[in-house]
Amino acid sequence: MRSGSGLVLAIESSCDETGIAVVETGRRIHANVVASQVALHAVTGGIVPEVAARAHLRWILPVLDEAWEGAGLTWDDIEAVTVTDGPGLAGSLLVGINVAKTLAWIHRKPLVGVNHLEGHVYAAWLLDPGAPEVEGPAFPLVALVVSGGHTFLAEMRDHLTYRLLGETVDDAAGEAFDKVGRLLGLGYPGGPAIQAAAEAATDRSTVFPRAWLGESYDFSFSGLKTAARRIVAAARADEGLAGDDATPLPAGRTAELAWGFQDSVVDVLVTKTIRAAREVGAASIVLGGGVAANGPLRARLAGEAEAMGLPLTVPRPGLCTDNGAMIGAAGWRRFAAGTRSGLDLEARPSYPLAAR
Ligand code: KG4
Ligand code: ZN
Repeated sequence: MRSGSGLVLAIESSCDETGIAVVETGRRIHANVVASQVALHAVTGGIVPEVAARAHLRWILPVLDEAWEGAGLTWDDIEAVTVTDGPGLAGSLLVGINVAKTLAWIHRKPLVGVNHLEGHVYAAWLLDPGAPEVEGPAFPLVALVVSGGHTFLAEMRDHLTYRLLGETVDDAAGEAFDKVGRLLGLGYPGGPAIQAAAEAATDRSTVFPRAWLGESYDFSFSGLKTAARRIVAAARADEGLAGDDATPLPAGRTAELAWGFQDSVVDVLVTKTIRAAREVGAASIVLGGGVAANGPLRARLAGEAEAMGLPLTVPRPGLCTDNGAMIGAAGWRRFAAGTRSGLDLEARPSYPLAAR
């Protein structure tokens, strides 16, 4: 065996992307293949868990084949198999875990279970093939993870250690994007659709509420969703459209409301993250999770971090949404720190990363 190669095979199947990657020393991507189920779930306007699990079962071996061929390695080169064991949909997690266990067992490799949210944080350390070697984010840092299922702000003073500063008390940021996308008739997933619609907004006068929750670093998006429902209903009445009419609002109106909603989410996320970074004396900021693919969020956080002289690391959009490489990045750190999971590894649908 080529010991010390630093290479791990990583599997992600917690939600609606089947991802398999090979990553070296938690940083360099050798292969990263993602099969997205977005088109499948667009039909139902959201994820049906059993449909997601069946799609993982259908695609996981073709994804493995493609990633493995792309990496051009032998099993002697691989030091460990890492896999998302939670949080996520139980049926989806089981598919990835079972494939990971089988590979670890056949090839006699250590198995390392990885928290999906830790993967979103560690995506910030990834380097694409051929990209120049750069230092990873400096500690202490503040990490904002905004995905379809989770929204939290944590302080990291070193690798693999988290202090929770705040989290959502109701919906995740991505969930809010998806629900408001549906309200606006923009389809699933709402995040990219709202971003695209908002780009055309010329009228930016509709202001959506912000839930500041006092000095807390917690987030709340359910009030914003209720406000969006009210604002959309008023706009429809204004346009002479009935609530149950399938006719969408005129494109200009949709753009205006998409912009107002997005601006509210971005404003709260950025303001709290910057305040937290200042308060904990952070040396850098890390942004991750599917919502981190959002252009205005990336741009505004980058601008405000730069004004403070703080480096911000945001992975490219394809590494913000679910993928195997991020599990290889976090999985390598865990492996190097001595974490080993048994072949009795179980799925943990609910699996918090950090405590206050
Ligand atoms: O991290 P992720 O791929 O899956 C989970 O772990 O949940 O995040 C998916 C979420 C969805 O809610 C989707 O609407 C949102 O990320 N998202 C975006 C954008 N791209 C994906 N939200 C806002 N703007 C985007 N460009
Ligand atoms: Zn995710």
